[in-house]
Amino acid sequence: MPDLIVRLSSGRTSPVFFSPLAEVPDLMEACGLVRGKCLVVTDRRVGPLYGAALASGLSSRGWMPHVLSLPAGEHTKSAQHLGAIYDFALSTGIDRRTPLLALGGGVIGDVVGFAAATLLRGLPLVQLPTSLIAQVDSAIGGKTGINHSEGKNLIGAFHQPHLICADLSTLRSLPELEWSSGLAEVVKHALIADTGLLESLERHWPALMERQATVVRDTVIRAAAVKVAVVNEDEREASCRMILNFGHTFGHAIEREAGYGRFTHGEAVALGMRAALKVSHLLEPMLPLSRLMRLVSRLPVRHSLDSVDPAALHRAMYRDKKVRSGTLRLVLLRAPGEAYVTDRVTPEEIDTGWAAVCSPVKPTR
Ligand code: GLY
Repeated sequence: MPDLIVRLSSGRTSPVFFSPLAEVPDLMEACGLVRGKCLVVTDRRVGPLYGAALASGLSSRGWMPHVLSLPAGEHTKSAQHLGAIYDFALSTGIDRRTPLLALGGGVIGDVVGFAAATLLRGLPLVQLPTSLIAQVDSAIGGKTGINHSEGKNLIGAFHQPHLICADLSTLRSLPELEWSSGLAEVVKHALIADTGLLESLERHWPALMERQATVVRDTVIRAAAVKVAVVNEDEREASCRMILNFGHTFGHAIEREAGYGRFTHGEAVALGMRAALKVSHLLEPMLPLSRLMRLVSRLPVRHSLDSVDPAALHRAMYRDKKVRSGTLRLVLLRAPGEAYVTDRVTPEEIDTGWAAVCSPVKPTR
């Protein structure tokens, strides 16, 4: 039985397993994928850790894996590396049943997912997320895509995976900064939809920072369940799925203005959540701002922007792809665990949000 199930409008499901990578070949068959050729795309950080074991496990179960390793990092979410996947896939003689396996974090999941969405008008996709962000968020729900110089994720498609298998043991090898960045998404899920997760994070934060296995398992599955529940409500982001963008409209402006790679996505989201909490509190004074800010401040990432011009951030925010029509829609909190979308925030209120991240804050443990 899957740990979680995404129920798709097509009638198909996207099962989520928190299982060892060694189980992937059996899970692929159980999900109806037809044994034969398959393509594993990974990056040069994750590939050396898990690629060989995955490929030999697949071979021993009668699959014929072809492995492509791309550079690690946000720059891989580009037309150039997408092209490299196309060239590799087409040179191996794929057909419409050939699954593409994305072994890695959010970057690999997004670019490989987009390749799967477009090659031969759609190949089966298996997401094997090895980062915290990918396990609780990006590998679930079918968003795929690449960046453009005009902005992040401007080219993409919805393409729902046939299988998501997240091996929690891969989180042990995650570099500190990536772990912290992933925690930002976990905190986001607690803030927008799950007060139980919020309390659990407050209680178990030190154990989580030490990556204690049972706390990690409980936290990751609970945070991923928020994502699954939201996607089950609104698969194509017509309405409530937008709440997953809490902190992201501010965060994308930071990434864009500072230059991709200067802040991790999680760092930008942590800063964005501070700004969004500040604006939420302006509109809803009963919101327990200091409690929620305290939780965000525990994230061991940078909590202030010192070298980015707030006016430039403000302008960058209006260039976000979700603001193309000129109306800025923000996700705010009405209460802990209760997010809403509004287009009634004034530029002055937005600037108050930016002020909350442009002054230094000391992280607390
Ligand atoms: N990460 C936001 C979404 O999947 O909708």
